[in-house]
Amino acid sequence: MPRYRTVRDIDVRDRRVLVRVDFNVPLREDGSVADDWRIEAALPTIRYLLDQSARIILASHLGRPTGDPEADRRLRMDAVARRLSQRLGQPVLKADDVIGPDARTKAGQLQPGGVLLLENLRFHPGEKAGDEQFARELAALADVYCNDAFGTCHRRDASMVAVPLQFPAGNRVAGLLLARELEILEQLTGEPQRPYVAVMGGAKVSDKVRVIRSLLQRVDKLLIGGAMVYTLRLARGLKVGASLVELDWIDEARRLLREAGDKLVLATDHVVAERPEPDAAIQVVEADFPDGWYGMDIGPATRARFAAIIREAGTAVWNGPMGKFEDEPFRAGTRAVAEAMAECQGVTVVGGGETAEAVRMFGLADRMTHVSTGGGAFLKYLEGGQLPALEVLDVA
Ligand code: 3PG
Repeated sequence: MPRYRTVRDIDVRDRRVLVRVDFNVPLREDGSVADDWRIEAALPTIRYLLDQSARIILASHLGRPTGDPEADRRLRMDAVARRLSQRLGQPVLKADDVIGPDARTKAGQLQPGGVLLLENLRFHPGEKAGDEQFARELAALADVYCNDAFGTCHRRDASMVAVPLQFPAGNRVAGLLLARELEILEQLTGEPQRPYVAVMGGAKVSDKVRVIRSLLQRVDKLLIGGAMVYTLRLARGLKVGASLVELDWIDEARRLLREAGDKLVLATDHVVAERPEPDAAIQVVEADFPDGWYGMDIGPATRARFAAIIREAGTAVWNGPMGKFEDEPFRAGTRAVAEAMAECQGVTVVGGGETAEAVRMFGLADRMTHVSTGGGAFLKYLEGGQLPALEVLDVA
C-alpha cells in the first residue's frame, strides 16, 4: 500500500479545504447525537487545519436518506454541527444545502480559521450516483480536497471519488485520521507480529464469509463467536433450538469448516435463553440446545479459552460481538474478549460499529492499539479488497 500525501505535506494557509469526514453518527429518537466518537476522531485534522489558518469546509453523509423530506428531516446536519462546535470550542457554520446558494455563499465568505459544515451529502441525488456535474459544483467550493472519512472509503459516492478527481493532482490529500487508520491496518495485512489471532463475531455468516476466508490465509488462529456460530453448529449437525440461523448458508458453512482445519476455534459452550429477552430463563449448554431456546452469548469455557489465546497474541484483530451485549445477561462473552484484548501486550485492533461501541462501553478503548472508525470499510480492508476512494489520492 502506498503512503498517501497528507494535509501536513501541503501548504493550506488561507486556502479553502474541503474535508470529507464520516460524521455518520448514531442519533437518538429526537435527532440529537447519541455517540460523537466519529466526530472526535476527526478533530486532529480539523485542529491542524485551524492552526494553519485554513478555511475549512466539512462534508459528510448522515444515515441513508429516502428522499422523503419529512422522514429525512432528522438526518439534517444541525445536531452534528452543534456537537462539533462544542467539541472544537468555536462556532461552526452550517449550510442548509450541499451545493446550493447557501453553501456557495457561506463557503465564499469563510474566513481563515472558519469552519463550515455542509448539509447531508446524501440529500443530493448526485452523491450516491457519483454524478460528475454534482462533483464539479461541490469541488468548486474549495482549493484543496482532504479525505478523512475512512469509514466511507469502500463507497464510490461522488464525494469519495468523483469530487477529488476534480482537484489538480497535488491537492487531493489524506487527513490525519485516514493516515492513522491505514498505518495501523497495514500491519494486519503486511508482516504482523505472531501469533496473529483474529476474533470474529456478529450475526451472519453471509456478512463475514469473505473476510473469514481471507483471514484464514494470514492468521494463526481464527476464533468465532456471535450468532454466526449457530449456523456453523447446524452445519456440524448439532441442534441450535430457535437460534438465528441462515439455512441457505449451511453448505458454505460446511465448506468453510472443512477448509479451515485447526486454525478455526469455534465457541463450544453457549448461554441460551428461553426467550431472546434479558429477563428470560437462561442456562449454559455444550451440546444440543433445548428445543425452542435461543443462543445468546458464548459460555464460560469458551470465554476462558478465547481469552487465553488472545492474551498471548502478537497481533489480535477483532470484529463482531460475541453475543447480544446490549443486554446485561448476554454481555459476558463480549466483555471477556474486550478485556483479553486490553491485557494483550501485542498489537490490538478493533473494528466495526458494534464492536467499537462495546469496547467504549466497557471503558477499554484506550487500552487498544487502535479502534477503527470503519465498519464496512474495515471489513473490506481486511478482506484485501480495494478501497476505491484511496485510489484517487496523491501518493507521497
Ligand atoms: C458506515 O457507517 O459504515 C459509513 O458511514 C458508511 O455508511 P453507509 O453504509 O450508509 O454507506
